[in-house]
Amino acid sequence: MEDWNTIIEPFRIKAVEPLRFTTSSEREEALRRTGFNLFGLRSDEVLIDLLTDSGTGAMSAQQWAALMRGDESYSGSSSYERFAKAVQGLTGLEHVIPVHQGRAAERILFAETVSSGSVVPNNTHFDTTRANIEHDGGIALDLPCPEATDTQSEAPFKGNMDIGALEAVLEEHKGRVPMVFLTVTNNSIGGQPVSMRNLRAVRKVCDRHGVPLFLDAARFAENSWFIIQREPEHSESSPLDVARELFSYADGVTMSAKKDGLANIGGFLAVNDDELAARCSALLILTEGFPTYGGLAGRDLEAIAVGLQEVLEPDYLRYRVRTSEYLADRCRELNVPTVRPPGGHAVYLDAGALLPHLSRNQFPAQALAVELYRVGGVRSVEVGSVMFGEAAQHELVRLALPRRVYTQSHIDYVGEVIASVSEQRFAISGFQIVHEPKYLRHFTARFAPEA
Ligand code: F0G
Repeated sequence: MEDWNTIIEPFRIKAVEPLRFTTSSEREEALRRTGFNLFGLRSDEVLIDLLTDSGTGAMSAQQWAALMRGDESYSGSSSYERFAKAVQGLTGLEHVIPVHQGRAAERILFAETVSSGSVVPNNTHFDTTRANIEHDGGIALDLPCPEATDTQSEAPFKGNMDIGALEAVLEEHKGRVPMVFLTVTNNSIGGQPVSMRNLRAVRKVCDRHGVPLFLDAARFAENSWFIIQREPEHSESSPLDVARELFSYADGVTMSAKKDGLANIGGFLAVNDDELAARCSALLILTEGFPTYGGLAGRDLEAIAVGLQEVLEPDYLRYRVRTSEYLADRCRELNVPTVRPPGGHAVYLDAGALLPHLSRNQFPAQALAVELYRVGGVRSVEVGSVMFGEAAQHELVRLALPRRVYTQSHIDYVGEVIASVSEQRFAISGFQIVHEPKYLRHFTARFAPEA
């Protein structure tokens, strides 16, 4: 393609969904009603929704057309055939088990492989992966590379696993590690990619210890694009070739198709091991559904089969990764600190650095997220002490970008809201928690502003 400065959205819009504008007093009222918890907002109270990139994307005309082909037969659905073929063609894995979303694949896999005292290393576990392992009595270990902890490092592959640490863990817990996981991209540390070189090194260590390697492939296409951009030996490869090579090192995959499946619901577990596949399928029947639909409608399988192909189009990926970079560039111009470099699916604001007058127990990231909503109706998510309690490493606000939903002017608007909030940042006060549930408090806790 010719080189233009403006990287346009590589689509035109066929169906539109109106946005509803709110007044500042309506937003104030909504914040009081929800106890300053943005999860409690109704979607029509939000102007730009950057809560998550999961299941919030727009489907293409091809996907909507494929829905009509959905074969809703209880067993032997032809939609399953097309779905399984798409997954097999991409991953090279033989057994494809559909599930309603990523965490269902995790639950089924770990129920069959993890027991009390099992240890599962990952570059960084996503919350549901960790929770499912712990639920089965296992220990979920995070082994991120050293650069991962420095939010300001521009290292190109901060999603990598620490190979030395992995060696040590496999040595120490011999016989107790059912598999090693790699999450591509590494969501929990900012959507940072894993390099092909790191993946090969992890594979070698796994081979030496006879331990299978699994990928959490929720954002495999974004990871593939970063490899093409940042790992010179892959600069001439297509996203599909890079993705296929990524998967070629894996014995199994769990995937939430709500991200790089470009679908609103769905996921899968794929493995080569016949015996493991049989056990997982048996459990699937018990809790999700027959193995040719796994809790999904036939039409959902069709949408995913098309989405897995569209997500690897270079024009799409160029635009996709440019969007978060564009927003991060704007933040940089405004001197608003973000986790560097920006991830594929989100920009993370460093609330701890932006609001130095607030201590951790005043929840600076919650305060910043509330302010973005109060000022401009932008919904983000706190990733700090509210979500992780004492274990929080940083006070971040994630601005996750739904796929193919917002245009550059929406992102310009978000930049303007960030500028306005940043200008009066020293007037932002902290919060106290006035109610919290026993588990996963960030979803339902209620807050009161400090005087
Ligand atoms: N793995 C990763 C890396 C994820 O980011 C998620 C979900 C899952 C697994 C679980 O998949 O939601 O389909 O059950 N992440 C969403 C997010 C919720 O907002 O980052 P799921």
